[in-house]
Amino acid sequence: MRLLSSANLKHVLQCWTKKFRSQNIPDPNSSAEYIIAHVLGKKTLFGVKLDTVLSRSQTDQVNSLCKKRLTRMPVQYILGEWDFQDVTLKMKAPVLIPRPETEELAELCSDTLGCMSTREGAVFLEIGPGSGAITVSLLKRFPELQAVAVDISEEACQLTRDNAELTATSDRLTIIHGDFMSSQVFMNLLRVQPFCLAVSNPPYLTTKEMESLQEEISCFEDHKALHGGEDGLDIVRGVVLRSSELLQPGGQLWLEVGESHPPLVEKLTADPDTWKGYSKQLKYEKTVTDLYGKPRFCQLVQSS
Ligand SMILES: C[S@@+](CC[C@H](N)C(=O)[O-])C[C@H]1O[C@@H](n2cnc3c(N)ncnc32)[C@H](O)[C@@H]1O
Repeated sequence: MRLLSSANLKHVLQCWTKKFRSQNIPDPNSSAEYIIAHVLGKKTLFGVKLDTVLSRSQTDQVNSLCKKRLTRMPVQYILGEWDFQDVTLKMKAPVLIPRPETEELAELCSDTLGCMSTREGAVFLEIGPGSGAITVSLLKRFPELQAVAVDISEEACQLTRDNAELTATSDRLTIIHGDFMSSQVFMNLLRVQPFCLAVSNPPYLTTKEMESLQEEISCFEDHKALHGGEDGLDIVRGVVLRSSELLQPGGQLWLEVGESHPPLVEKLTADPDTWKGYSKQLKYEKTVTDLYGKPRFCQLVQSS
């Protein structure tokens, strides 16, 4: 393809969409649209006239960003930002890009917190915040709440910190860099508990599912954010067990899991052997489906 020096929007859009299509880049049209809109300082091209002339420097910028897309880099990393609910967050590889389903998880948490009559200074916990999307959107919505977020990835902790600063919520957020499954992190959390709510979209892909990831995911996103062991439940089990000790009476745990997981999580909580060595238990409340109709979210409640 001949790279354009300066041209009108319609021409640039058509050229790059065609190029992406010819190289089997997923979502060719929206990829080009997002990139061009970003260069024009907009979120989308909605309302932008197709005969708008791009300056030479704008065209150069579009060309350089579109070339990144040819490497299968996700648009969110190319733009360096993405919207989650009502906030615009910084995105940086390899920290996981929040998926549309995760906005539903944040909404479920928001509904739960809204019904809880939480007191000033009540604290919620997120295990594996990644970019911090869920935590900062909840902190924005509930100015009386505080949060603790634990992530094993240093890059994720830094991005959560950056996004908390961007959204002016950092003064109510404590970030712990560490393994939630470690006794050191657990002891730290026991000192802060009880939490009114815990939320996690943990790594839950099975070993088999990890073998067939789209290139955008396998080449750019952190595999530790995705792989949940042989059956996908390695971290989920730990989150369920440990949350029982961390939640206040009536406190709730919301989980995002793979579509085959909710019955397994329910079975786990129903088995008395699961709770040996734990002083409290969580009761499985319900499964909620995602926007594609798949059973993806588990609600568990602290029973004691
Ligand atoms: C699927 S990503 C979710 C990110 C973000 N919450 C979201 O929904 O977009 C899982 C996150 O859990 C973190 N993680 C994985 N294992 C962990 C562990 N053992 N302890 C703490 N965090 C962990 C990963 O680094 C990653 O940021």
